Amino acid sequence: MKEEKKQVNRRSFISKSALLGAGLVASPMTFAHEKNSSKKIEGSKAASSPGKRMLGALEVSPIGLGCMSMKSGSYNPPRDKKEMIPVIRGAVDLGVTFFDTAEVYGPFIDEELVGEALAPVREQVVIASKFGFDLTSGQRGGRNSNPAYIRQAVEGMLKRLRTDRIDLLYLHRLDPNVPIEDVAGTVKDLIKEGKALHFGLSEVSPATLRKAHLEQPVAALQSEYSLIQRVLENEVIDTCGELGIGFVPWGPVCRGFLGDKFNEHSRFSSESRLSAVPYFTSEAIKAHMDVLVLVRQWARKKNATPAQISLAWLLAQKPFIVPIPGTTKLHHMKENMGAININFTKSELKEFRNDLEQINLIGVRGPETALIDQ
Ligand SMILES: NC(=O)c1ccc[n+]([C@@H]2O[C@H](COP(=O)([O-])OP(=O)(O)OC[C@H]3O[C@@H](n4cnc5c(N)ncnc54)[C@H](OP(=O)(O)O)[C@@H]3O)[C@@H](O)[C@H]2O)c1
Repeated sequence: MKEEKKQVNRRSFISKSALLGAGLVASPMTFAHEKNSSKKIEGSKAASSPGKRMLGALEVSPIGLGCMSMKSGSYNPPRDKKEMIPVIRGAVDLGVTFFDTAEVYGPFIDEELVGEALAPVREQVVIASKFGFDLTSGQRGGRNSNPAYIRQAVEGMLKRLRTDRIDLLYLHRLDPNVPIEDVAGTVKDLIKEGKALHFGLSEVSPATLRKAHLEQPVAALQSEYSLIQRVLENEVIDTCGELGIGFVPWGPVCRGFLGDKFNEHSRFSSESRLSAVPYFTSEAIKAHMDVLVLVRQWARKKNATPAQISLAWLLAQKPFIVPIPGTTKLHHMKENMGAININFTKSELKEFRNDLEQINLIGVRGPETALIDQ
């Protein structure tokens, strides 16, 4: 029976993805925010191409591809370049135009992979990368956003990504020793020189976002957001809406958990990055199985998979949200893109949230952390 259900789901998302790849799908969506928005236009302006979303002035596919774990192997053993290039190029064929990397992934090797994979289709895609860690020793050091170091980092990125411009250049983490205005000013100069096209921030507070945006308009904030890690929903995402900044959730399938990849019996070795995640202790993961059960119920109702429900729920929250699930598998990418065609009515979103709010979460960020730079 379970296998039968999986088969049905697989057929359903493959057909949805095929329509999407052919550019035939532009479904109307209900957004969770509509009740509050009255006449205010929230977030970025509307996309000019059907089915696309805007991050500030940057148009992207509604779901991107996170390339962090491919070569550097954050959640899996490092994968061979020969296996990963078809995943990235296959994503382009599925309609994905938004690719996420960072110089710290590896360091450097994920950017090299992304650059090689996307070189033949460079004009069709948006490449996002991030600076902010000191990598002079070849390993991840402390934070470094000195203007000269940012410039040096961008020169390295351009070479590794085989391009003449970074479409979306993010500050990965705030450097407490460098005022955000200086970082934004440096990116502004890089934009004037054509080396970067848009500016992004990651894991910063609303106050920092506002200061940066005054100096150089910010296209996107990238921070962790999923059905389990929801602390940024209020003030942070609201600030993005107010300022016309896009929001890019990282960890949108809760690092695989909401894709039904593991369960309460899973244990992570000390080498695994997941072993240090506070919401994956044995006690926490047991509690969070209730979220997974709820997601599975919605998956059955919508003839979808848990990963698709988790992504569709994020897409339904705001029109300026663009999740970037990470995957090393083309069939997961195809499945994830199928989320675009799953809609929730207002009352379904309400019901989903009511049920979600009954579940006690363990090890997730507290509300106070949303107002602090990470
Ligand atoms: N700004 C930041 O500080 C920051 C931090 C972390 C990550 N990021 C970026 O955000 C991206 C996404 O975040 P993330 O990778 O941490 O978390 P994620 O996207 O929530 O989870 C990635 C994991 O989910 C699995 N997965 C993906 N789709 C699946 C599906 N349909 N079914 C089952 N499992 C699925 C992947 O395994 P498979 O490979 O087996 O598919 C992978 O192990 C990263 O790749 C990176 O580019 C940014």
